[in-house]
Amino acid sequence: MATKPEPAVIVIFGASGDLARRKLGPALHSLTCAGLLPAQTQIVGVARSSLSDAMFHEQIYAGVQTYSCYDEGECSMWENSKQHYTYLSGDYDDPETYYRLVQHLTQLEERSGAPGNHLFYLSTPPFLYPVIVEQLHRAGLNRQERGWTRIIIEKPFGHDLASAQELNAQIHAAFDEPQIYRIDHYLGKETVQNILTFRFANAIFEPLWNRNYVAHVQITVAEPDLVGQRVGYYDRAGVLRDMFQNHLMQLLTLVAMEPPFAFDARALRDEKVKVLHAVRALHPDDLVLGQYDGYQNEDGVAQASQTPTFAALRLFIDNWRWQGVPFYLRSGKGLPHKLTEITIEFKRVPHLLFPENVDLTPNHLSLCIQPDEAIHLNFATKMPGAGMRVEPVDMKFLYGKHFGKTALLEAYERLLLDALQGDASLFIRADEIELAWGLIDPLTEARQPALYPVGSWGPPDAAALIAPEQSVWHIGCVASNE
Ligand code: BG6
Repeated sequence: MATKPEPAVIVIFGASGDLARRKLGPALHSLTCAGLLPAQTQIVGVARSSLSDAMFHEQIYAGVQTYSCYDEGECSMWENSKQHYTYLSGDYDDPETYYRLVQHLTQLEERSGAPGNHLFYLSTPPFLYPVIVEQLHRAGLNRQERGWTRIIIEKPFGHDLASAQELNAQIHAAFDEPQIYRIDHYLGKETVQNILTFRFANAIFEPLWNRNYVAHVQITVAEPDLVGQRVGYYDRAGVLRDMFQNHLMQLLTLVAMEPPFAFDARALRDEKVKVLHAVRALHPDDLVLGQYDGYQNEDGVAQASQTPTFAALRLFIDNWRWQGVPFYLRSGKGLPHKLTEITIEFKRVPHLLFPENVDLTPNHLSLCIQPDEAIHLNFATKMPGAGMRVEPVDMKFLYGKHFGKTALLEAYERLLLDALQGDASLFIRADEIELAWGLIDPLTEARQPALYPVGSWGPPDAAALIAPEQSVWHIGCVASNE
């Protein structure tokens, strides 16, 4: 059971925006309902829109009603907890806003007796990150005088290596690295963390987790949704920046890393960084790009845009454990299912005993991250009856069935709680983010994506990419709760 953090004031910049409504408000509400936030916790929303506290409450509550995992019947704490939500309107680049913020924080802390801990959450458009950081610095709000001060930065963190380096430098001018929490919400997903438990709390899989037994590894992050409301951002970013640089690279590091010596922020992130260092320079021949049919007609997409909405990539990790083992990564919008799945495909048996089965399916292990959290182990078994016919079967562990629905903390709940507790293990360090950009950058140079129909698994070349493995892209996690 998680322990309560110390009381703090959480200041959300961009408080009238989509993330605050859809994710942060509901996450804070769920943490309150779960009894994981101390009673003195205060939430201050900062944004440009001129809102009263009551209007801010309405906005947050609308999000809570739609997105919280607790309904009114399960948790009726909002009426009481809303008094802890206050709102301050002002321009992000105006020192006056921060002057008023200092006064507001002082008043809140005098009233509630909270110890002067501040968690700043930047959920504004990214061009405002340096502006807000600089103003916090000028107002002295970066200092840790009476309590701790931490800052959470939303993605995207830069749009290439140079911009990420520049942003790191700007933030480091005001905050020390241990105060900085760069978020990748995939790391907050319970089953992503379970990759580590699965690998390092069980003795039976780790001996197989290397080039001697693994034929290749697949990572799929698929979405049926199209680009939706975020065209302006997405058309400039595309799938490599939007999904590969962060979420897929993070999944890769967790699957491929060496066992850390301890489960703490430094040890974990050191091992993840080593993986990124060992990734062989990515080659455009190992990349397939796609764009869903109709993307160019979406409102707001640049004329004849060549932004990829799908990519499949083969990469290698040049270290002792993974030498010669290909990793296949794919992600896209407009695909048939919402699915995040990691599959380890093991090598074939060295000698076939059963002549009726000329082509035995290799064993594979699938870690199902979402939507149905599960683990599947696929192995061969004898079919009943005469002869020795063999068929692959699936052994499943279903999270929801075992632990129940509410046992899983939503990603933002977990990450907010960790930041409040000062645990940066599930946040990205400066060197990590720069290494990941360094890998992706060379792939983002203009290249024409192939069209694929919405509802397909991307262009045919994606299947061709994996064909040399005599394998296909696995979707063993689809309908895994059956
Ligand atoms: C975001 C991307 O980081 O992750 C979106 O910007 C994507 O484009 C989203 O849709 C997917 O997140 P999840 O948690 O729904 O898999």
